[in-house]
Amino acid sequence: MKKSILIIGACGQIGTELTLKLREINGKNSVIASDIREGNKELMKSGPFEFINAMDYNSISNIVDKYAINEIYLMAAMLSATGEKFPEKAWELNMDSLFNVLNLAKEGRVKKIFWPSSIAVFGPTTPKENTPQETIMEPSTVYGISKQTGERWCEYYFNKYGVDVRSIRYPGIISWKANPGGGTTDYAVEIYHKALLIGKYKSFLKKETKLPMMYMDDAIDATIQIMDAEPETIKVRSSYNLSAMSFSPEELALEIKKIVPEFTIKYKEDFRQSIADSWPKSIDDSSARKDWGWNHKYDIVKMSEKMLNNLHSKYKIL
Ligand SMILES: NC(=O)c1ccc[n+]([C@@H]2O[C@H](COP(=O)([O-])OP(=O)(O)OC[C@H]3O[C@@H](n4cnc5c(N)ncnc54)[C@H](O)[C@@H]3O)[C@@H](O)[C@H]2O)c1
Repeated sequence: MKKSILIIGACGQIGTELTLKLREINGKNSVIASDIREGNKELMKSGPFEFINAMDYNSISNIVDKYAINEIYLMAAMLSATGEKFPEKAWELNMDSLFNVLNLAKEGRVKKIFWPSSIAVFGPTTPKENTPQETIMEPSTVYGISKQTGERWCEYYFNKYGVDVRSIRYPGIISWKANPGGGTTDYAVEIYHKALLIGKYKSFLKKETKLPMMYMDDAIDATIQIMDAEPETIKVRSSYNLSAMSFSPEELALEIKKIVPEFTIKYKEDFRQSIADSWPKSIDDSSARKDWGWNHKYDIVKMSEKMLNNLHSKYKIL
């Protein structure tokens, strides 16, 4: 069956690059981008776009009919740091949008769903090193609570109604095309921009705060790979742990200094420090590697070269 894909929240950090990649693979008219706001020029020029509010079932349903959509990638959400400022709004957006999409699949209107979870499902009582696929999960942020609850509902809809929903617990995603949308790992994106533009950065996390991270290209590959996998290989219907690298602000600064020697960093933690302190330092993703063949390509060295090269061209630095 020919794919007809809808991406909700397509103008965000991950949605932008996911849309571009899916259009490259499936053809631009088979991938409908949607959001409550317009995206960057590259995204808007690359194919069809519709305004959709993910909290409004009818607005999604109309577009599903209009384009005979059979797959939905739900990327709209309120992320960890912004969610702590607007807890009720975060809960409403993150849960209502998921139910809208799960119910469309339950009614047989779409065949497959991708919904991203996060390392935020883990909390202060979770083992911090090499965090297992199945472990204690007592998230302390509203974002983490919404993602953990979402995971339970995904598994429930699969078991009860046969909904083919697939999910990954993304670590912090690092990229250069679209800006990050209010997460706790945003420092690891901002630092590259500041290194090139002004040669210095003030980190909102302490220098030793180690977190799991991934370069965008790997995150997009994983997303497309899990969606293309045969259904019987997907053994986890809540969400898969996914991992590539872990580092602290100090370790990332050292890596950047190798390429931008004059770069300096200072540390002044804010409210995001306590969120970071509640999350794992590293993740065991052996289930994803075993079940559907996940393998990352980028480590901190390769990612730093890519980030600085791409931003160098973007800012037209001579
Ligand atoms: N970026 C990360 O590091 C990271 C890590 C773990 C999980 N995730 C998850 O991946 C998904 C995408 O994250 P992202 O970083 O691209 O987020 P983002 O904040 O950059 O993008 C979210 C997009 O959703 C849109 N949106 C907000 N409310 C909407 C609504 N009511 N209807 C339609 N669109 C709406 C926003 O305009 C934005 O373009 C989210 O579920 C997020 O929780 C991201």
